[in-house]
Amino acid sequence: MRRYLCKKNCKLALDIPLYRSVVIGLGRIGFSLEGDKFRASPCTHSGSFAAHPDFDLVGGFDTDPEAGTDFLEKYPGICVGSENILEFLEKTRPSVVSVSVTSSAHLEILKALWEYQKKHQTILGILLEKPVGMDVKEALEIQKLCEEMKAFVVVCHDRRFYTEFQYYRDLIQNKKFGQLRHMRIEINCGSYAEGSGRRTPNLKFGGPMLHDGTHLVDLVQFLVGEPGWVQAMCTRSSKMIHTEDTCLGNMYFEDGRSVSFLCGGRRKYFHFALELGFEKARILHGNSQLIWLKRQKGGYFLEEMPVGLPEAKNPYLQRLNHLALGMQGKTESMASVQDGIRTLEIIDDIYESARSGGAMRATGKNPAYPPKAMVGRIHIKPLE
Ligand SMILES: NC(=O)c1ccc[n+]([C@@H]2O[C@H](COP(=O)([O-])OP(=O)(O)OC[C@H]3O[C@@H](n4cnc5c(N)ncnc54)[C@H](O)[C@@H]3O)[C@@H](O)[C@H]2O)c1
Repeated sequence: MRRYLCKKNCKLALDIPLYRSVVIGLGRIGFSLEGDKFRASPCTHSGSFAAHPDFDLVGGFDTDPEAGTDFLEKYPGICVGSENILEFLEKTRPSVVSVSVTSSAHLEILKALWEYQKKHQTILGILLEKPVGMDVKEALEIQKLCEEMKAFVVVCHDRRFYTEFQYYRDLIQNKKFGQLRHMRIEINCGSYAEGSGRRTPNLKFGGPMLHDGTHLVDLVQFLVGEPGWVQAMCTRSSKMIHTEDTCLGNMYFEDGRSVSFLCGGRRKYFHFALELGFEKARILHGNSQLIWLKRQKGGYFLEEMPVGLPEAKNPYLQRLNHLALGMQGKTESMASVQDGIRTLEIIDDIYESARSGGAMRATGKNPAYPPKAMVGRIHIKPLE
């Protein structure tokens, strides 16, 4: 493996090469959101590579030349491309590539990376933005290309790298507040309507359940596990919106746990909210919202308790730490393409349930139940 000089003001990373990193797609998450005062810093692919001592940001590519100009202004002297991606890759010889282009272009970029890798084999790791593809078929093609490239891939379902969600997962597993009985999860946002914003009219963008719900479904899997059954309804308020504007529904798990979810909701803001209903406590966690409640001593109601979260670490730098370990063969991917495909399969089942008027739908992994706790609507029989 080649070794490169470390950046100024950074200690030389012990025995770790400085990974030559490029960003394909210099839009919001690739580049331009950096510095947003409401987000973590760094929060973009470019900003994270620039801030991490083991990674060296060496180039950026975007079909929109204006994006490249802004990028160059922020990172003078860096290699920028907008026309021929293969030439750009030949010039930059990256060991790490971020794929942060529009979701419908993920496959096209992966094909180009595969083409390049066939000749040069310099790519060790890929950060692939979510959703993996626009549907399961596309995602399976992407998976095949990634496998053939033999690169370590991390899908950017970033909540897996947040200190708090890792902590909640531990809380659920160690049953500190008893069993988790129910989780409510919401992502509130608007939907893309034809003719609105600066996006091109025919952009394949996906509805809220795909575009943002991918984070929601991924977090359900990370915290609670594989749902056995889903049921959902979708609504669309205007013909100008080509997808649903809201998707709401439920998921059921083998051990009787349940999740209720809402994605979209025709909001003029973005808000993420999670509510964990444990046997003995309730945690409300969201953007600008954090309340922990526990059962009163000697009473039957809930009262506030101190929030017990550990100090948060930057998830995007954590993600890079993980990528580095993976590229050195020291860990499996915490957010693999396979996990991302499973998320898309569950989203498909959610849409399929909505198409059939909210019918209960098995998600394929646990076909042997509805769980015994799932009783009929009218005759509630004692459990055997
Ligand atoms: N992980 C997260 O929290 C998060 C947040 C936002 C977006 N995303 C994902 O990141 C991706 C980009 O989203 P965004 O909000 O930054 O979009 P954006 O529209 O702001 O940026 C996308 C950029 O990709 C460029 N592009 C499109 N096709 C290209 C191609 N074939 N080759 C090179 N460049 C191309 C566009 O010119 C644009 O600059 C999407 O997949 C989205 O789902 C993830």
